[in-house]
Amino acid sequence: MTPPATNAAARRDQHPPAALSRDEIRARVAALGPWFHNLDLAGVQTAPDHFLGDYPAVKWRGFRDAVPADLTGKSVLDIGCNGGFYAIEMKRRGAARVLGIDADPDYLAQARFAAEVVGADIEFRRLSVYEVGRIGETFDVVLFMGVLYHLRHPLLALDLIRAHVARDLLVFQSMQRGSADVAETAEDYDFWQTEPFDRPDFPRLHFVEKRYAGDPTNWWVPNRACVEAMLRSAGFAIAAHPEPEVYVCRCTEPDPAVAAERPTVTMPEQP
Ligand SMILES: C[S@@+](CC[C@H](N)C(=O)[O-])C[C@H]1O[C@@H](n2cnc3c(N)ncnc32)[C@H](O)[C@@H]1O
Repeated sequence: MTPPATNAAARRDQHPPAALSRDEIRARVAALGPWFHNLDLAGVQTAPDHFLGDYPAVKWRGFRDAVPADLTGKSVLDIGCNGGFYAIEMKRRGAARVLGIDADPDYLAQARFAAEVVGADIEFRRLSVYEVGRIGETFDVVLFMGVLYHLRHPLLALDLIRAHVARDLLVFQSMQRGSADVAETAEDYDFWQTEPFDRPDFPRLHFVEKRYAGDPTNWWVPNRACVEAMLRSAGFAIAAHPEPEVYVCRCTEPDPAVAAERPTVTMPEQP
């Protein structure tokens, strides 16, 4: 699918809100930093020196054609929205409602400012993925990009997303390490047969006890087989795999054992 031709034109024609000069935007961007998302806010770059390049625009280019180009009338939830790049892109594709949530209030402040500058009507709330049950609605499209490996309880997060907020499409991304080969999943494994566990293509979630890339919030890094098995197990059928880290999934029924295992989360919402 091709994104609407209006996107590029809309970006070129983007002007700062009447109330803000470019210098004022530059000052606000500096005050709200450091930014992880490099956004172009009326000509002001928020993270021009990002270690991954023009991120996440460079990532988005690798999978944007696998996401519906026309989201007119659709609802979108962006979990771990950060500075709002994907939430804004979903709005540009015509989504009627976009809700961005993040656990970090500093990133939410960036996202609110970015949406204001580009004139996108997006709601942002401080919520953890573990609290999606509090939202009280389901969404046509759920984005869960770059968050899984930051969680101590990644499978719980996928189960909660499937149970409470996803009703059709999940757009998912995770860092992966280890083999990119995928072993065929067996229905069962013999107790005495240990060989499957030594295979690099067996689903593996690597636990990081201290830090990965200097970041103490990188807890679990899956290999490709693990990502795909976790998605299936939580009730997400892989419909497209447009680039190595990104999956577009359709909701299916999760494994019956999943519902029985899922705890109820009752954490209070933070202001
Ligand atoms: C690597 S960034 C990814 C941002 C964006 N989704 C992307 O793909 O570019 C991880 C984001 O997840 C957020 N995050 C971490 N733990 C979270 C949690 N438990 N619930 C919601 N967001 C979380 C972080 O604050 C951060 O904004």
